[in-house]
Amino acid sequence: MALRFEVLGRFNRARAAQLTLPHFVCQTPLFMPVGTQGTIKGLTTDQLEDIGCQIILGNTYHLALRPTSELIDELSGLHKFMNWPRALLTDSGGFQMVSLLHLADITEEGVTFQSPVDGKPMLLTPEESIQIQNRIGADIIMALDDVVKTTITGPRIEEAMYRTLRWIDRCVAAHKRPAEQNLFGIVQGGLDPILRDICVRGLVERNLPGYAIGGLSGGEDKNSFWRVVAQCTGALPEDKPRYVMGVGYPLDIVVCSALGADMYDCVYPTRTARFGTALVPEGVLKLKHKAMAEDIRPIDPTCSCMVCKKYSRAYMHCLVTKDAMGSQLLSYHNLHYIMKLSRDLHSSILHGNFPEYVCKFLQKMFPEGD
Ligand code: GUN
Ligand code: ZN
Repeated sequence: MALRFEVLGRFNRARAAQLTLPHFVCQTPLFMPVGTQGTIKGLTTDQLEDIGCQIILGNTYHLALRPTSELIDELSGLHKFMNWPRALLTDSGGFQMVSLLHLADITEEGVTFQSPVDGKPMLLTPEESIQIQNRIGADIIMALDDVVKTTITGPRIEEAMYRTLRWIDRCVAAHKRPAEQNLFGIVQGGLDPILRDICVRGLVERNLPGYAIGGLSGGEDKNSFWRVVAQCTGALPEDKPRYVMGVGYPLDIVVCSALGADMYDCVYPTRTARFGTALVPEGVLKLKHKAMAEDIRPIDPTCSCMVCKKYSRAYMHCLVTKDAMGSQLLSYHNLHYIMKLSRDLHSSILHGNFPEYVCKFLQKMFPEGD
């Protein structure tokens, strides 16, 4: 195992922990911004460090196509290649192919898809996904899983869950760097508590360094989503990190942390920035709106980020969707907001004022009389 996970404080099921990875000592709950081609769109690695980002996510699928994992390996890994000294996590690639390329087809062997480069059919097996991730060299690598949308029903959900369990053994067997990289398993099973339970037990038996809860935030209602998270966190080991994949709405991060989850990733903060939306304590602020044109206040007067210190809503209104700098500045603010949220969750759990923090968070987001 190439990590140490120490729970520093608890409030009921919520935990504040220290996660020591080969490249960085992280405090949880934590959020991982998502990079695609070895970059978080619009931010330099120095800026990511400035806002307190501890770990970022790279996608095996994107990196394998360009610049290719062989080249990253030759250049001594993704950390060096993108000049990121802190922790990295790579996702296995299957989910990206299934969600991005509707042409992907899953068989027992692996995920077959048409190469977006030359249209040729390609196959990503569990062994290959791990080999690529071993070359990329992230602190945490993810098992290849069979992901189905939570909104579908029937035997396909069960098939995908059992296949994910069979594939984890192929991933473990293929993993050549367990002393430097941590392989996390992914719980599947849709919205069915029996299938989720079988999957959690199966993965826990394999004694992995950490566990992810997958197959969520794909259009299911909040009640079903939070219910699955609560069930999985309740059954996963206390002394291992728990990662809810694809979660990035501030409210979901707060709720999942209260339910005992530790890690999150999502394109939401940066993607919504590119559409001109700022994350603020009250919810969201749409900078494209006409009302912003003459508003000389900062995006969030309570925010201490560089953008809120220097620029007005009126100036941001001018930039957004017209100039690349609009997206860059707004991505910076949005990620700063999420990083501060994670730090506040950590310290409120640690200092015993988590309920007060959550109440304030909810009151600001959902004020009375609105
Ligand atoms: N990203 C968001 N959800 C998932 C999932 O279920 N599996 C994988 N591998 N990545 C994800
Ligand atoms: Zn700000």
